[in-house]
Amino acid sequence: MSKIQIKGGNNLSGTIRIGGAKNSAVALIPAAILCDSKVTICNVPDITDTEALEEILKYLGANISRASESIIIDSSTIENKEIPEGISKKLRASYYFMGALLGRYKQVEMHFPGGCSIGARPIDLHLKGFEALGATVEEDGNKYKVYVKDKVLKGANIFLDIASVGATINIMLAAVYAKGVTTIENAAKEPEIVNVATFLNQMGANIKGAGTNTIKIKGVTELTGCFHEVIPDRIEAGTYLIAGAMCGKYLKIDNIIPEHLELVISKLSEMGVEMEVGTDYVIVNAPKEYKPTHIRTAVYPGFPTDLQQPFMALLTQANGKSIVEEKIWENRFMHVPYLNKMGAKIEMCGDKATVEGKTELTGCEVIATDLRAGAAMVVAGLLAKNTTTIDNVEHILRGYEDIIDKLNNVGAEIKFID
Ligand code: UD1
Repeated sequence: MSKIQIKGGNNLSGTIRIGGAKNSAVALIPAAILCDSKVTICNVPDITDTEALEEILKYLGANISRASESIIIDSSTIENKEIPEGISKKLRASYYFMGALLGRYKQVEMHFPGGCSIGARPIDLHLKGFEALGATVEEDGNKYKVYVKDKVLKGANIFLDIASVGATINIMLAAVYAKGVTTIENAAKEPEIVNVATFLNQMGANIKGAGTNTIKIKGVTELTGCFHEVIPDRIEAGTYLIAGAMCGKYLKIDNIIPEHLELVISKLSEMGVEMEVGTDYVIVNAPKEYKPTHIRTAVYPGFPTDLQQPFMALLTQANGKSIVEEKIWENRFMHVPYLNKMGAKIEMCGDKATVEGKTELTGCEVIATDLRAGAAMVVAGLLAKNTTTIDNVEHILRGYEDIIDKLNNVGAEIKFID
């Protein structure tokens, strides 16, 4: 696999158009198999995570066609086969096939999913949700068989111990055909959940309350094809917003929903970053000086854990001490040694990191230990003196569509090297 090389120090000016949300698309694609007619999903990002899901669909026998940013999925020909470990391990979101296949066939066999090593990432809440709907879960090593003896899932009241994005979506997928009403309490409220619920409702489901902490799903007997659009990726947008806060000279982050980034925008503005917030864009300029701040990751609408790592790169430029608290994932500071290698002064203590600014960053060889750690290396490299070479770029390509072209088009010097 090639590496990414960045010659830092350039101003970023112009427009970056944000693509469809990875975390929505990776749930919408498996959700499409809940009906056996054609579904068109547009604004699907062209990233390796969506490619891996298309591979699973093809393996199950679905017909798929891609036309630019749209994907047309015809699931009328699928077979409920066990999904091989090799494919399900390619990404976290393969677990959405559990909910979708269970919902459609009342039985599913698959392995523990893959994804970034940012914590233990158990799926106990997903499985408890399936059991509450009447399913039996059999575990054999890292393989799961989930089935319903009488082939009828029954609506239930499910209280999630943690407002998990994955568990909320997976339970919605399994419950759309359940008999009666399913209530998910302490549901996650992320915009991607609303996007998935809207999609299911367009197919004929009856889901209310998505975006609040109580979601009610009244079971239906049939879903039909529809046309649906993926919302803009707030994490991709936030990453480029951070890059703009570091190197932007009238950098426009376009095709976004600024409300989805409210806390990030407010933290940037607290630090002194100049922004013009429009209806579907933000224009950002790097200020001369940055104030330090304190971020604490939390479920939506709190500060997104997926932006904690790139945001930390920005905090190295603040005049004074900033604090970062990571409250979602227990292993999400793997980027810290590499930022320190570039010249940052960051100390970690449990789930807290102290960033002592301002430090000059100098390019060197670093590693993208996971997807958003890779984003942190990219934004740091855009600002750093000299050249930064990032290894393990396959992590970055899982979530950032066309990252090289998007950044070069606004003045960066970034390329793949062998
Ligand atoms: C999703 C996002 C990921 C983001 C995360 C939190 C996708 C594909 N990925 O991941 O980018 O970082 O939300 O915003 O949408 N937990 C359990 N048991 C479970 C499920 C979760 O203990 O069964 C814990 C996790 O270990 C974690 C917390 O709950 O500490 C939140 O996890 P969750 O919201 O489920 O994250 P994902 O859906 O995996």
